Amino acid sequence: EVTLRTLAAARNLRVGAAVNDRGLDSDNGYRDKLRYEFNSVTPETAMKWVNLEPEPGVYTWGKADAVVSFAQQNNQMVRGHTLVWHSALPTWVSDGSLSDQELRAALQRHVETTVKRYAGRVAVWDVVNEVLAEDGTLKQTIWLKRLGPGYIADAFRWARAADPSAKLYINDYNAEWSNPKRTALYNLVRDLRAQGVPIDGVGFQTHSLIKDPTPETIPPTQLRSTLELFAGLGVDVAVTELDVRLKLPVDERKLAAQAEIYRRVTAACVAVARCVSLTVWSLTDRYSWVPAVVPGWGAAHPLDAALARKPAYDQMQAVLADR
Ligand code: G3I
Repeated sequence: EVTLRTLAAARNLRVGAAVNDRGLDSDNGYRDKLRYEFNSVTPETAMKWVNLEPEPGVYTWGKADAVVSFAQQNNQMVRGHTLVWHSALPTWVSDGSLSDQELRAALQRHVETTVKRYAGRVAVWDVVNEVLAEDGTLKQTIWLKRLGPGYIADAFRWARAADPSAKLYINDYNAEWSNPKRTALYNLVRDLRAQGVPIDGVGFQTHSLIKDPTPETIPPTQLRSTLELFAGLGVDVAVTELDVRLKLPVDERKLAAQAEIYRRVTAACVAVARCVSLTVWSLTDRYSWVPAVVPGWGAAHPLDAALARKPAYDQMQAVLADR
């Protein structure tokens, strides 16, 4: 059968989806879509620190292990997400009770323990996630404030030492077009590489790159030229968290405009040799972070809540099939 997976594989491309724990655990229709449509998976929440080590030294690997063994059974790549983030932290890390030195040691242990556990099974890590602010400065997170800017290079070095074969990424949003954040990300990657920091790739989340589009108002995305720009640094690039949120209720016109954005993003990745993977941040409206976080919005994903193909799916498929 012609699925996104078979078409992507023929292009030597990874097409992936964020994995929802509940769906993976108990929804056979969902599991089938995940297995047949994708050759890459990213745990949507299971590998975040809060879920792996809720209390110091108390590890709860179950949900992350479930994603990894599903991927192994189905011959899928795993993108590990994410080692260093300012969000989804356990309280014992975020509550300020650790000294700077203890915090640094805890972060190092977290990175090393997690990467070692999945060495050989997680091929790609989002080592640092969302480290930049919109104005191009480093985001004022617990990590910057307590450890200083060197935490970024440290995290990449710790991860490399823990699994020398894993590809190591920096991942962010709103850097898909020309703006201060994109410039800062470019300079950061360039400078880190010049210093010998082991960074192999840049992930562009591409969340709601364009929100609530209508057929008449889709601006050009600049995504292709951005992917080419970063590829020029000698790194791989990837679309890591694609969704296109719509204001509810949806109608045919909105779904068509949404599909056009899925088409353009897929085409941008396909056109750039170093764009090695394209991941949708949820494959289905059945499991979506959007309505929970942005009330009144949703329907952001390629399959609907009944797991039926939307125009967005058809456009992704058409681009992948086109030779
Ligand atoms: O697991 C609990 C469940 O037991 C409980 O009943 C429920 C009640 O709200 O919460 C569940 O956990 C939620 C989890 O998603 C699973 O649905 C967390 O509260 C919620 O914070 C978590 O949100 C995730 C968020 O990251 C924070 O980790 C979203 O699903 C996930 O899509 C989102 O993903 C991020 C990327 O990591 C980074 N880029 C942006 C992207 C979207 O925000």
